[in-house]
Amino acid sequence: MSDIALVENIGEYEGKTVTVQGWVADKTDKGKLQFLRVRDGTGVIQATLFQKTAPVEAFELAKRIPQESSVRVTGEVRKEPRAPGGFELSVTDMQAVQLARDEYPITPKEHGIEFLMHNRHLWLRSSRQHAILRIRATIIKAIRDYLDNNGFMLLDTPILTPAAVEGTTTLFQTDFYGEPAFLTQSGQLYNEANAMAFGKVYCFGPTFRAEKSKTRRHLSEFWMVEPEWAFGTLDDYMRVAEGMVSYIAQTVLELRKTELQVLERDTSLLEKVAAPFPRISYDDAVKIIREKGDPNFKWGDDFGAPDETLISEQFDRPVFVHHYPTEMKAFYMAPDPDRPEVCLSADLLAPEGYGEIIGGGQRSADLEYLEAQLVKHNLPREPYEWYLDLRKYGSVPHCGFGLGIERTVAWICKLDHVRETIPFARMMDKMYP
Ligand code: 4AD
Ligand code: MG
Repeated sequence: MSDIALVENIGEYEGKTVTVQGWVADKTDKGKLQFLRVRDGTGVIQATLFQKTAPVEAFELAKRIPQESSVRVTGEVRKEPRAPGGFELSVTDMQAVQLARDEYPITPKEHGIEFLMHNRHLWLRSSRQHAILRIRATIIKAIRDYLDNNGFMLLDTPILTPAAVEGTTTLFQTDFYGEPAFLTQSGQLYNEANAMAFGKVYCFGPTFRAEKSKTRRHLSEFWMVEPEWAFGTLDDYMRVAEGMVSYIAQTVLELRKTELQVLERDTSLLEKVAAPFPRISYDDAVKIIREKGDPNFKWGDDFGAPDETLISEQFDRPVFVHHYPTEMKAFYMAPDPDRPEVCLSADLLAPEGYGEIIGGGQRSADLEYLEAQLVKHNLPREPYEWYLDLRKYGSVPHCGFGLGIERTVAWICKLDHVRETIPFARMMDKMYP
């Protein structure tokens, strides 16, 4: 038997006979010539069968094989500029592993989004989804590499938790041996404990929010990477975050050219994503909105999606908005010592209308302030007792941030909606498949 080759590396086998194992994505019947497009998970290759030269059984099989049947195709690798990918397999043998039993639901024609999401388990096989999810994997690896190479240590935080991190309105409640428990909204509070023990840490895992609205950027289950470090300040956070986001963009540009082409992504905009990123205060962001959007925008209100778009349109790369009103943000944010009505927080807004992809800031290191904040935010003290301990035993200034993977993928790939950025999206109206 000939060597098994991956389509991704097929160029290395030019002139040799190899076997590709995969699925028939599509085919064209030209009578004496059969073209199959065979997909193996790493790419798609054209397999060509001539009636004159291919074995009779293989040729007959190619003629009648249903879409998405699984196959082993053997042939010589040839340069073929007209074939997608630049190479084709000139087939000398072919076997079906399984003939698809029914007509494949996703045909090459256009389908509506409802139908495609209902068939997500099959839709994942399409070239567009393939490109998006390979970029997702590359983004995740770039993040891990960046943090690992910059002295951050990966430490996992729990998913079942007794307390809220980001407000109580989006908690998913579950039962923990008869006690109420919540699916984590963020690993941050545990990260803070880890940072006091290990210095520079990060967690990376699924996080959950019962978002009661259907928007193009909210999922009920999403993945977040959260670095946290002792002795870090608001400025330190912005420096690490802009370094990481620039590294993500540059890595995808370098390693995922083909996928960006499949998505028809304008890469000139991604090329501009390099540190330093502009920084503007919440106050200045409000001025922009009043000038160019809503003249009555009230200081202290949160930005809506159109406001974020307006702000980010003023810049050619991601922009930090810092010093948000303290009232607007989570209980743990450190107030600015010179102006306590604003806090040492910042969000990173992505360009091209993608809005917030990172939230973070400097945490309050002050025990009494945090005790008062728990009361103010109507949070019970008991589940946070351990968190308050961190301010009793060697409390230090520290900072951290959370980057949402799906929103980052949506921006890098320029997608309309986050539902395509994760293999199986969970949203308010979506639990199947
Ligand atoms: O701004 P958020 O709520 O910040 C935190 O959770 C902090 N505790 C993080 C930290 O400092 N360690 O969420 C952070 C990011 C957002 O900027 C966004 O990218 C993403 O998480 N995010 C969501 N992504 C998809 N669907 C949702 N429902 C999301 N909610 C937040
Ligand atoms: Mg936020």
